[in-house]
Formats: sequence, structure tokens, C-alpha cells
Amino acid sequence: MAPKDTMQAAVASPETGGGNGPAHVAIIMDGNGRWATQRGRPRVAGHRVGAERVREIVRACPDLGVRYLTLYAFSTENWKRSVEEVITLMGLLERYILSETEKLSREGVRVRFIGDRARLSERLQRLMERMEARTCANDRLHLTIAVNYGARDEIARAARTLARDLAEGRLSEEEADETALGNRMDTAGLPDPDLVVRTSGETRVSNFLLWQSAYSEYLFTRTLWPDFSVEDLRDAISHFAGRERRFGAVARR
Ligand code: FPP
Repeated sequence: MAPKDTMQAAVASPETGGGNGPAHVAIIMDGNGRWATQRGRPRVAGHRVGAERVREIVRACPDLGVRYLTLYAFSTENWKRSVEEVITLMGLLERYILSETEKLSREGVRVRFIGDRARLSERLQRLMERMEARTCANDRLHLTIAVNYGARDEIARAARTLARDLAEGRLSEEEADETALGNRMDTAGLPDPDLVVRTSGETRVSNFLLWQSAYSEYLFTRTLWPDFSVEDLRDAISHFAGRERRFGAVARR
């Protein structure tokens, strides 16, 4: 765990011209419930403020050199929460899509959704498809929102597709390699995250991008998601720039 107060000083960032900032940042937006409880408010109030943070962070990414941003909005396990909380989260997603589709489209943001959509309402599925289609030609920022997403579920679905392709002769056994499985993930076509941030002080991965984060750097900050500011993202990027990534090789001299 590297809480904010112990983060290393900036070495270089896209902004300072170093060019070694993370191109792909993925965030586990945790701590909404605690943020609200600390203020004597219902948990859903934390999610509402959390959705505002999403808007700000998305807008800030291009200027910070982040080309890909992936956000964990609703996990396959989040259905276990109260009906009120699930309905609120689904409502916030709908509202986000309705309010942001045109804006993000104008700002050059391409939006994709990952996760199993089958359990989502038809209305939400339609809105998601419309947002993806409306923004598919954009390239300034690639925003991926994980909804009803679980990494184990994603890997199992990809494995099922691979097995079907093998059984039906579209793929030989020799071709069933890492690339073939990766191409069947929800994230096919996206680069792996360079940096995974989790807010709120929890130091778990919680079934997020298990396949894709094999070589990602992790940063855990105590800041609760509703308090996570553009400044915090800037700090996280600076912290990343100071790390040496070896991808299994030996240290550079
Ligand atoms: C985790 O905090 C957060 C979530 C399960 C939901 C995240 C959703 C949003 C930020 C808003 C909607 C998203 C978009 C993209 C508009 P928690 O509730 O588990 O916090 P706790 O650990 O303090 O209880």
C-alpha cells in the first residue's frame, strides 16, 4: 500500500515532458459508502457524488497524457447489495450515459462497456449500445466502463468462446494461445493497463482486470472515491513515472 502521503515525488510526467506517464489508467472507485456514512448520509449519496468525480476525472485525462481510462462501476458481486443501492447505481449509469453521450462525442472520447450485459435492463443495454456507436470514431480518450463485470466471469466467457471456435474448426489447437484468449476478452483491442489505482485504502484487486493487469503497477490510496480529485490523479501519474517496470526482465542499468 502506498498511501497518498507516502507517494514518491514526481520524476516526470506527460505534463512535465517526461513522456513516461501511464497511457492506460484503470481505477477501482472504492469508498463511496464510507464517504456517505462518515457524513451521516445514506450510502447512495456517496455514489451520487462518486458519479460527479467520474465526470471530472474523465475530462482531465487527455491533458494528463492518459489515452485510456477504465473504470470499475459495477461488479458481478454488487448485485448482493440492497435493492435500493443497485437501483441507484443503475440509475446513475443511465443518467451518466444520457447526460454525457453528446458531450463526450464532441470531446473526442470513445466509450466502451465491458462486462456481461445480459443481466442489465434492456433500456440500459440500448443506451450503452447507442453511446458506443455514437462515439466509436473517436480517439482522443478511450473510456471503458465496467458494468456487471467480473474478471473471472470475463475469462470464463472468453474460454467458452475459444472452446466453441476450436470445436467448430475456426481455430486449431496450436492457435489456442494467449493472444487467441486475449482476443476473446471484453477488452480485446485495448492495451493492458499501465497503472491500476484503488481508492479508499483497501488493498484488494476484487476481480478487476485479472488477465490484463499481469504487469500493471498498482497504487492504493486512502482517499475515498468521492474525494478523489484531478490533483490526486496527477499525483498517481507522477508516482507511476517514478517506478521501474521490468516485465519480468532484469533491472536496467
Ligand atoms: C464502491 O464503493 C463503488 C461502487 C460499487 C460503485 C461505483 C459507482 C460510481 C462511482 C458511480 C456510477 C458510475 C458511473 C460510471 C457514472 P463502495 O460503495 O463499495 O464503498 P464502501 O467500501 O465505502 O462501502
